[in-house]
Amino acid sequence: MRGDFEAWSREKLTEVESALMRWVPEHAPAGLGEAMRYGVLDGGKRQRPLLALAAAEAVGASVEPPRAEAALRTACAVELIHAYSLIHDDMPCMDDDVLRRGKPTVHVRYGQALAMLAGDAMQALAFEVLTPEAPGVPLALQARLCGMLARAAGQHGMAGGQAIDLASIGTPLDENALRDMHRRKTGALLQASVMMGAACGEAGPAATQALSDYGAALGLAFQVVDDVLDATQLSATLGKTAGKDADHNKPTYVTVLGLGAARAQAQALHAQAHEALARSGLADTVWLAALADRVIERDN
Ligand code: IPE
Ligand code: IPE
Ligand code: MG
Ligand code: MG
Ligand code: MG
Repeated sequence: MRGDFEAWSREKLTEVESALMRWVPEHAPAGLGEAMRYGVLDGGKRQRPLLALAAAEAVGASVEPPRAEAALRTACAVELIHAYSLIHDDMPCMDDDVLRRGKPTVHVRYGQALAMLAGDAMQALAFEVLTPEAPGVPLALQARLCGMLARAAGQHGMAGGQAIDLASIGTPLDENALRDMHRRKTGALLQASVMMGAACGEAGPAATQALSDYGAALGLAFQVVDDVLDATQLSATLGKTAGKDADHNKPTYVTVLGLGAARAQAQALHAQAHEALARSGLADTVWLAALADRVIERDN
């Protein structure tokens, strides 16, 4: 099973990489395209695209051409939003980081103004990718996917969570506030990756609810594990600067609850994700299950 998953994910990652190579423009004006491509191509674990594609498979969207195309576009769109969020997250006005995905951050390489614009343009590109001019993806599905992504990326989700993150420096958040911040800044886009993938196919109300619960548990677990890794791994393993949450006085699951309790939370959320899959009634959730395991087992 593990071997099958590795083969499946390699195949999907190749599809996503070549679609991104096609859709992220090389010749955007004045060096913008180069900065965008540097920020998104050839790097990262691609957890969000894999979740979208696994969810699409779980609901039978991978076979019919229009639905399969919608799933691939969804996979690329969520990665574009994620990569844009990383470029901005690393800027001096936010986390002020110099290393990302094993390379100098976009603003270190191209300057702050171009980094900001590369993020802006990648956010817009995500919605362009979801709304192709050539016929293929039904218009109602395009509109639905755009709405789901907008809600996950904006003030309800990632951008709102990032605002809370910056406003919380040096603040001893309680566990409820910490959970809310993590759900927004990281959980929302991971959950949307699952739900957008599922929207490309057909799922009844019970399966939809189960996938939503799976995405919520996995999404929160992802940031809890990110907090643990920041405190326990080396920069060389992470491909980004280790130990920066403590250096920047950020409230995290590790600083608020302690390392042992943070790890226990991640395990409990992992169990919740599996429990949700088990009650989904969907026949083929094996890739989604493996992706939940990967969140817990990863070391970067
Ligand atoms: C890092 O995300 C930032 C968070 C939202 C926790 P990833 O750990 O998915 O980063 P990449 O995409 O693999 O670089
Ligand atoms: C980032 O959280 C969440 C985003 C929305 C980008 P972090 O600031 O902890 O992510 P890393 O550790 O820099 O990847
Ligand atoms: Mg941050
Ligand atoms: Mg950061
Ligand atoms: Mg982090």
